[in-house]
Amino acid sequence: MSLKVAILISGGGSNMVTLADSMTGDHPARPCLVLSNNPDAGGVKKAQARGIPTAVVDHRPFGTDRAGFESQVQAALDRAAPDILCLAGFMRVLTPGFVDRWQGRMLNIHPSLLPRHKGLHTHARALEAGDAEHGCSVHLVTPELDDGPVLGQARIAVRAGDTPETLAARVLAEEHRLYPAVLRAFAEDMKTS
Ligand code: GAR
Repeated sequence: MSLKVAILISGGGSNMVTLADSMTGDHPARPCLVLSNNPDAGGVKKAQARGIPTAVVDHRPFGTDRAGFESQVQAALDRAAPDILCLAGFMRVLTPGFVDRWQGRMLNIHPSLLPRHKGLHTHARALEAGDAEHGCSVHLVTPELDDGPVLGQARIAVRAGDTPETLAARVLAEEHRLYPAVLRAFAEDMKTS
């Protein structure tokens, strides 16, 4: 039996696509759900085109009621019964209650070399800091934002003349290699343990 992976997105979903497309053949997992908090997320159509079940839980009607939003997300997850949750450009902060429920089974990709540059605008901040190296990290999600144990990183050199946009493009290409590799290793470990 394959493990089941739910992928949470908010936008274009390029990482979701590379994860979903990696889960074929002898991969120990298969995608069971792509869930977006944003009804207009381009990734939803890309998932549908791949025949992956999708769900949208729009966060906006919930206002500041994060727990209310998350209970709807949890209900969709309960129906899909994933073994692993992958956050892939999911831009909502999760409450400790939700994180506790998934801790040890929830991965995130972050566009920086954690613990550097937690939070937003990582590419601009790497440039402002004069970093010689930049990159991306896949980590386990814990209640503290972008703070959980790092499972893998990919590095790029910052070049003279780089802008946040040129860095973002080179880091994204690394994300697309890193996240599927980390997910595969994580799923293999889970299956044999
Ligand atoms: C990716 O660069 C991902 O690392 C970042 O959002 C982008 C989503 O792109 N995530 C975060 O900043 C999380 N804090 P995608 O929708 O094309 O995968």
